[in-house]
Amino acid sequence: MPTPMHHPEQRLRIRELTDADAETLLAFEIENREWFESHIEAREPGFYSPQGVSDHIQDYLSRFSTGTWHPFVIEDANARIVGRANLKHIHTPPNAAEVGYRIARDAGGQGLATRALEHLIEQARERWGLTQLIAYVYQENVGSAKVLDRCGFTLAAENENPTGSARRFVRSL
Ligand SMILES: CC(C)(COP(=O)(O)OP(=O)(O)OC[C@H]1O[C@@H](n2cnc3c(N)ncnc32)[C@H](O)[C@@H]1OP(=O)(O)O)[C@@H](O)C(=O)NCCC(=O)NCCS
Repeated sequence: MPTPMHHPEQRLRIRELTDADAETLLAFEIENREWFESHIEAREPGFYSPQGVSDHIQDYLSRFSTGTWHPFVIEDANARIVGRANLKHIHTPPNAAEVGYRIARDAGGQGLATRALEHLIEQARERWGLTQLIAYVYQENVGSAKVLDRCGFTLAAENENPTGSARRFVRSL
């Protein structure tokens, strides 16, 4: 087997969101808007503007400073944002948080969401001392359910008779 010329996943890194990310984050969100809206809840239209994204970043960073949110971006070798992953609603106690992630359509299928979720698990355990993570996923989102399964999440018991289309997955740390 010849050695592949490129290892795309090795040219990517996960780092914390910063207030210098507004322009690249807006480009990422606009480019993938339809893709995201077909899998997850749509954002307010006002989000898709320089001011909207700046406000969003300030909101996330202020939540980070108070210890309720931990926002990350995945960037490629050209400093283009290709994904996001967040710990949300961090509560201590009961030492739990929600996970969220989104990957650019053209960067999908390379294991990025899996890597991002593994990073969130590590941060949740080591930085925040959490003991449980939760994810909400629409029934139709087979790719996301696969990522969660691969990272050790299981469908919560109350979903045996789901009433809505969002399913709750949990993982003990
Ligand atoms: C869901 C999402 C996060 C997956 O990101 P990704 O980087 O492509 O994920 P990974 O490559 O780590 O793994 C996805 C797996 O699901 C599989 N998959 C994706 N879509 C699938 C589908 N419709 N049916 C079956 N399997 C599917 C992929 O083949 C891959 O499995 P494999 O590695 O065994 O081939 C990405 O598509 C996304 O951001 N979607 C829009 C936003 C969203 O849904 N976020 C999650 C909300 S809970």
